[in-house]
Order: sequence, then structure tokens, then C-alpha cells
Amino acid sequence: MSNIGSYEERIKDFSWKLAEEELEYKDGDVINIGWYCSDRNCIKGKGEKMALIWEGLGGVEKKYTFNDVRLASNTIGHHLRGLGIKNEDRVCLFMDKIPELYLSFLGVLKIGAIAQPLFSAFGDESLHVRLENAQTKAIITQRKHVSKVRRILEQMPYLEHIIIVDHDGKKPLKERETVFNLEEAEKIDEFEIFPTKAESPSLLHYTSGTTGQPKGVKHVHYSIISQYLTAKWVLDLQDDDIYWCTADPGWVTGTSYGIIGPWSQGITQCVLDTGFSAESWYKFIEKNKVSMWYSAPTAIRSLMKAGDDLIKQHDLSSLRHIASVGEPLNAEAVIWSEKVYGMPFYDTYWQTETGSMMLTNYPGMKIKPGSMGKPFPGIIAAVLDEKTFEPITEPNKPGLIGFKPGWPSMMRTYWGNEETYKKKFVNGWYLPGDKSTIDKDGYFWFVGRDDDVINTGGHLVSPFEVESALLEHEAVAESAVVAKPDEVNMEVVKAFVTLNPGFVADDDLELKIMNFIRKKLSPLAMPQEIEYMEKLPKTRSGKIMRRMLRAKEWGEEIGDTSTLDDE
Ligand code: WT7
Repeated sequence: MSNIGSYEERIKDFSWKLAEEELEYKDGDVINIGWYCSDRNCIKGKGEKMALIWEGLGGVEKKYTFNDVRLASNTIGHHLRGLGIKNEDRVCLFMDKIPELYLSFLGVLKIGAIAQPLFSAFGDESLHVRLENAQTKAIITQRKHVSKVRRILEQMPYLEHIIIVDHDGKKPLKERETVFNLEEAEKIDEFEIFPTKAESPSLLHYTSGTTGQPKGVKHVHYSIISQYLTAKWVLDLQDDDIYWCTADPGWVTGTSYGIIGPWSQGITQCVLDTGFSAESWYKFIEKNKVSMWYSAPTAIRSLMKAGDDLIKQHDLSSLRHIASVGEPLNAEAVIWSEKVYGMPFYDTYWQTETGSMMLTNYPGMKIKPGSMGKPFPGIIAAVLDEKTFEPITEPNKPGLIGFKPGWPSMMRTYWGNEETYKKKFVNGWYLPGDKSTIDKDGYFWFVGRDDDVINTGGHLVSPFEVESALLEHEAVAESAVVAKPDEVNMEVVKAFVTLNPGFVADDDLELKIMNFIRKKLSPLAMPQEIEYMEKLPKTRSGKIMRRMLRAKEWGEEIGDTSTLDDE
């Protein structure tokens, strides 16, 4: 029997109170995600249960029970407090998927500080704009990433502490740098957790929009109510499960369902901190007897490409339930997974701002391959007319997705940008910025984004950010960045540029510009192709027409070009 039982029954008289009761929380109580994910499991008799099975390069393994997680997060919290970090201070987590990332996430929350996880492949520019926005006080990082922090240090007077978790004591430390070694630190058993309340801030995740700098999505401790129940009902996590979420906690899936969802339920999870390879993934599932697996379409398409023979060479019989998030999951991938794994990937739709799953497929519910499924109980969702912002009642007619605000894990604001936050609400609906249809049975079907943001392999990239970075290259005069179709990543970044006088438009320069972006921003934001142009298409008011360039890449109709300046 699945945890959700009957979807139809659950949506009748649904109340989030149910999750509050299961977590023994009452309005006005102290609620701290760090405590829920560690101490509470120990109190419930799961102290010796395995919480984290970690594997790094070369098959190195580390294991932590819930009691180990409790002690480690206390110890990190204690260390941060000793450095003068207080509640609501921002602490950036800038690490690969090493155990310290998961453990310090909880440690930061235990002292009431705000965790700011950032993808460790970010270059110095990507890092800088996010630390600047949050006025981050401390960063916890690894030796291999510290040079990026050093390069921008002068511009960050607010950043008081750079804490290196894997320093070997050999190379000298620079300004503001200190060493913290979790294994050697004296374990703190008794720890005073900061009494955060429902609305106390917990987390800042950065997400990219079409214009402007990335936005810091602010979440609060009460978000655990949503994350707990969605993990229980959609991922169907059960006590003896071995769960594997393939996402990096630098992104929201990696915290909502790579930490909070499973651990608030006391579930064992495993983490693989190596790059993607179909073979190593199957080996990992086989070795750890993974039973619940939450992944993403790009990875799934890569697994499809790797072929079915590889699957036959591994024992994947432990798998019981599998799900996906981040980008459209094609119908073929769902049908394929049914054939090769004996079960379909259950698609889930949500975003950084929503903090938890919004539209999803449920165990026991009929799956329509290619559909995102139905709203989570308690979520009121509609497809809205693009002009009136009223729900469209006719089936299969595309419009903007709208959610009625009020679920526990909804973002509370964009950090320092209340104005943009407010613009996300129209006519009483929260607009996630995506388009969909609803069929006659109430299933949602993804149509596309309502903006120019590029979704490459499940990661959002802002064309504005890449365009701005391109302009910093000496050869580039003007730039326009759009999505280009890609078999595996669905979309990749493509740049159109005009050059400054004296530069030659050749392959060598293309490579140089690509590398420049990779280092400055990240490998995800790096254009996969750069096309040189004599001039870029612009409107009469001088705005670059990305829409036209995009249409060209996708072989689509160009549409209305009446404002195009083509003199
Ligand atoms: C955007 C959110 C929260 C997961 C990680 C991404 C797209 C997400 C689906 C899906 C089609 C999807 C949307 C959304 N997206 N899930 N199942 N089908 N598109 O979080 O970086 O905030 O991106 O990813 O466009 O708005 P994110």
C-alpha cells in the first residue's frame, strides 16, 4: 500500500494540519529544520539507523547514522557560533556533494542562520553576485574552490569568514581563512538550538530570471511541512527504503528532497559525489540496493542513450519507485522506463520558488506519459488566460499556470527585491512563469516557459547573465543569448555576437570566449555554440530581438517582426 492511498480521497477535506500533527507541531511552537532532520529521529529511536551513505571518487565511502548527523550538525553549529555567526546571518555552502555539505546545512539552520547553498561549479562572477546580494557573512568551502573566493575577496568586505573543511595544513592560509575539520573536531553532544519559529528564514536559493541579476528565493522553517508530506506521498518514502536523490543541494531539489524531505521522515539516503556515467549509476543502485530514486530528464535521456544491455548487466531489482523533476519528461522516456525498469518515471513539476512539488503523478494513479500529473492535495492550480488572468475552463487550451498562494513552502520574498516578488502575483494567483494545458481528466501538460530563461539539463540559465558576461570579453561588442535544441539536455546555451574591430571571427576565438564564460559563470552557462554576426536583429527602440534568433534555432515561425529595425 502506498503512503498516499487514494489520491481522490486525499484531496477531499485536505489540510496541512495533517503534516503538522505527524510532525507534532502546533501553531506558535519552535520549529527548526536542523532539529527535525537529526535530533527528532534520535528521540524517535532511530539514532543508530543509517542516515547517509556517501560515495566519492575512487569508491571511497563514508557512513553516518542519525546520531552521527545530530552530533556533526551540533559540532558545526557550535563552531559557527564561536566565530560570531548569529541567527539570520547568511552562511554560504560552497562545496561538492561531500558529507560536510549536508551536515553543515543542518548546522547552519540549528543556529538560526540562513543557509545559502551554491553550486560548486560556479565561477567567481556567479559566486560574487550571489554573495553580494545576500551580504554573506561566512562561506564554508573546500580547498579546491577557495581560489575563486580569493579572486573576489577585495570586493566583499562583508564576508568575514572563509571556512575550509578539507585543509591539509600545508599551504598557508590567507586573509579571513580558517580551517574546520569535522572528523577532528570535538563532538558537541548538548547543543542549544536557536528557537526558530515558522516564519524564521531558513534558506536562500538563487534562481535566474530573464532580466536582472539572479534572485535569492527566501524560504522559512515552516517549509518542512510541505517537504515532509510531499516526500511521503509522492516519493512514497517508507521506513526501510534506501533513497537516492541525484540532485546537488546547490539547487532546490537537493535541499527539499536531498535533505529535508527524506530526513524529516528518518529515511536512509545515499549520495554519489562523482560525475555522471550510466555504468557508475547502475553500479551505485545495485551496490546500495536503492529502492526509491529521484532524478531528472537529462540524466534519464542519457541513460536511454547508454542502452538497455547495460541495464541487463546490473541487478536493479531493489528499485520500487522512481520519479523525475526539472524539465519536461518526454513520453518516450516514461514508456522506456516502464519497459526496462518495470516501472514508469513519475514526473513532478515545481520550482525553486514553490519549495516543494506542485503538480505530480502519484503512486496508484493512472500515468499518462508526457503529463506532469495533477496538483498535490491542498494546491489549487489552474491554467489562466494570458490577458484576463482568469482560469480557462475549456480542456486542452494553453495558458499560464497559476497557483493560489498559501502552501507552507512558498517562497516568502526575493531577497532584497520585494518589487520583483510582488510581480509574480496577478489576480490572486502566483505565476510560476510556465505555460500548460489541462486535459479533460484534469492532467496538466507542459507547454513551455513564458520567458526567455534557458532550461539546460534542468538548470535555469539567464540569457541576461550570459550576455553581460560576454560583453566583458574584449572581443565582444554585442551579444544575444538564446536556447538551442539539444537531444540530451533539451536546451543548451547559444550566443550570437558581433565583434569589436581588430578581432577575427574564427574557431580559436570561439573557444576562448566559451572558456571565458565557463570560468566566470559555470559550465552550464557556457555557450555550446557562438555564431558571429555583422549585426544583431533589433527593435526600433534598440532592444535585441532574442525571440527571432530563438525561432531560427528551433525552426519556428518568426512571428511579428513589425517592430524590427531593418533599415
Ligand atoms: C522550472 C523551475 C524544482 C526542480 C528543479 C528546477 C521547469 C520543473 C518540470 C517538469 C516541465 C519543469 C519549469 C519550472 N520544470 N519541473 N516536470 N516539466 N518543466 O527548479 O531551477 O527553479 O526551475 O523548471 O520551467 O518553472 P528551478
